[in-house]
Amino acid sequence: MIIAIDGPAGSGKSSTAKAVAAKLGITFLDTGAMYRAITLKAMRQNIPYTDDSALGRLVDGTVIAFEGSPPDVRVLMDGEDVSTLIRSDEVTKNVSDYCAIDVVREALVAQQRKIAAGLPVVCEGRDIGTVVFPGAEVKIFMSASVEERAKRRQKDFEAMGVTKSIQELMGDIEVRDEKDSTRSNSPLTKASDAIEMDTTGMTLDDQVSFIVEKYYSSSTLK
Ligand code: DC
Repeated sequence: MIIAIDGPAGSGKSSTAKAVAAKLGITFLDTGAMYRAITLKAMRQNIPYTDDSALGRLVDGTVIAFEGSPPDVRVLMDGEDVSTLIRSDEVTKNVSDYCAIDVVREALVAQQRKIAAGLPVVCEGRDIGTVVFPGAEVKIFMSASVEERAKRRQKDFEAMGVTKSIQELMGDIEVRDEKDSTRSNSPLTKASDAIEMDTTGMTLDDQVSFIVEKYYSSSTLK
């Protein structure tokens, strides 16, 4: 049983997906964290996103794993806990360029399918319902206004002790949305059979209950 949650940056996917996985006691798979980990490693090694062959070798030689249970899931890259580092501003600003590269996507999609094989999973990203698990039993496409998403990002940064203006965050979000939605390989798009969920003004509890209800109604139909 797979619950696929897609949507743009800051639409509420991560917190909702984690809470749904915790509530149902099933695996949580954050695919954005995998693209972020590869971006971090490539930047550390000064490999530009334009160098396909070096990126191919890098992604094939990298082991990404998840440890813990939602909501406390840690991201391990080659055994190193990179959970905080992959959320840095630098990685966030560069990830859209690295994740658009075919060799990176092919390798990570294969790993995502392997991690989820045979398990009940809540998987979140941009192409989960369209490419990674097109047969997912529940597909959700989350959205929210750019301003609401920037406000949520501002709170996340505040929690890390960083002050950012709404204008700067809105600008960053718009740039990332544009890159993620217009790339040629698996762009961010709503699957035709996904349920659209505008989370503007919704509480986390409302979002979780909505998805859990879809999960149970889809299980009883089977
Ligand atoms: O969800 P996030 O912000 O952690 O994702 C980081 C980047 O990874 C985002 O800019 C788009 C990309 N991504 C993707 O292309 N495909 C996915 N399945 C998940 C994330």
